[in-house]
Amino acid sequence: MNNIALVVGSTGITGGNLAERLISKGFTTYGLARHPRTELKGLIPIAADLLDTDSLNKALAGVAPTHVFITTWMRNETEAENIRVNGSMVRNVLNALSAQQSVKHVALVTGLKHYLGPFDAYAREGTLPETPVREEHPRLDLENFYYAQEDEVYAAAARDGFTWSIHRPHSVIGKAVGNLMNMGTTLAVYASICKETGRPFRWPGSAAQWNGLSDVTDARILAEQLIWAATTDAAANQAFNITNGDVFRWSWLWKKLAAWFDVEAVGYEGSIHPLEEEMANDGPVWREIALKYNLKEPDLNRLASAWHTDLDLGRPIEVMTDMSKSRKMGFTAFQSTPDSFYDLFEKLREERLIP
Ligand SMILES: NC(=O)c1ccc[n+]([C@@H]2O[C@H](COP(=O)([O-])OP(=O)(O)OC[C@H]3O[C@@H](n4cnc5c(N)ncnc54)[C@H](OP(=O)(O)O)[C@@H]3O)[C@@H](O)[C@H]2O)c1
Repeated sequence: MNNIALVVGSTGITGGNLAERLISKGFTTYGLARHPRTELKGLIPIAADLLDTDSLNKALAGVAPTHVFITTWMRNETEAENIRVNGSMVRNVLNALSAQQSVKHVALVTGLKHYLGPFDAYAREGTLPETPVREEHPRLDLENFYYAQEDEVYAAAARDGFTWSIHRPHSVIGKAVGNLMNMGTTLAVYASICKETGRPFRWPGSAAQWNGLSDVTDARILAEQLIWAATTDAAANQAFNITNGDVFRWSWLWKKLAAWFDVEAVGYEGSIHPLEEEMANDGPVWREIALKYNLKEPDLNRLASAWHTDLDLGRPIEVMTDMSKSRKMGFTAFQSTPDSFYDLFEKLREERLIP
C-alpha cells in the first residue's frame, strides 16, 4: 500500500529534514506550513494556517495521508497561551483529517521541556528531573503545552482509531532558515562574526552545562526515528526520547567548533555571558558580512536564535537523555555529534548562508 505522509510544519528544522527523508524513502509527501517551501523536489506543498480552521479544512480537502507528522509550534508570551495555541493547532489538523479516515499513525514531536518544564519555569529549582531523563518520568506538576498537544493526539486516536508516537528530542541540530530555535546555525553565525571581527568565541552558558555531560539531536536522526516509529508495530502508542547516541561535554566540543571556524575559544570563566547580549548589536555586522561574501540571508534574526541557545546552554544542571527504550525495540541508528555540527556548517557554507 502506498504510504502518504503529511508533514505539519514542513519548513521547520524538524519538518524540513523529515520531509527530505520521507521523499528519499519513497513516501508521497505533503508539506504543510503557512509559507510552505516549494524548492524541495518531490514535496507537495500545502499552504494553510493551523489556527484558521476554514482555510485548513479547504487546504486539506482531498488529502488522505496514512502517516501524519506534527512538527510545529508557535511561541507565545505565557505558557497558558502556549497551551491554547499549540493545543489548538494539533486539534485543528486532526479534526480536519478525521472525516477521511485515512490516517493510520500520528507522530508528534515535543522535546525535553516535557521533563524540564515549560519556558516559564525552564530547568528551575524544584522541578529539576533526575538525569539521564527517561520516558517513564511522570509529568511535572506544571502547565506545559507539550502535555496539551499529547492529550489532543490521544483524544483523536481514541476517536479515529489510529496509532500514535511521541518523540522528545534534545536541542535539534540541522538546517532551517527563519525558524524559531536553531542552536547549530546560531553558533555557526556567531563563530562567523567572531572570525570576521576578531572577537573570541565565548562560551555563553553555565558551569553545569560547560562541565556536565550533554547530548543533542541531529534533525536527521530525529527524522529516522519518526519514520521508524510510524512504520513499526511494536513502537505504536509509545513516547520516545531521541538523541544522537553519544554523549559529550561542552568543554570538549566548544574547542572543536572554534577550531572549525579558526577562532579563539574562551570557556566558562565564572559567570554566564548570554549570547543574546553578545550578539545584540550584530545585526548590521551580519548585513555587512552577507554583502561582502554574497550570502543569501542578510537578516541575522532569520538565522540566529540566541535566546534559545542561552536557555539550553545556561541550564543549572547537566541535561542528558536515556536512549534505551527505542534501542531495545530495534531503533539502533547512531549519529556522531561533532559530525552533526560539521555537516551542518559545511551545508550552510555550501548554500551560501555563512562565509
Ligand atoms: N528546534 C529545537 O532545537 C527543538 C528542540 C527540542 C524540541 N523541539 C520541539 O520540536 C517541535 C517542532 O519544533 P521545530 O523547532 O522543528 O519548529 P520550527 O523549526 O520553528 O518550525 C515550525 C514549523 O511550523 C510551521 N508553522 C508555525 N506556525 C504555523 C501555523 N500557524 N500554521 C501552519 N504552520 C505553522 C512553520 O512554518 P510557517 O512559519 O511557514 O508557518 C514551520 O514549518 C516543537 O514542539 C519544539 O518545541 C525543538
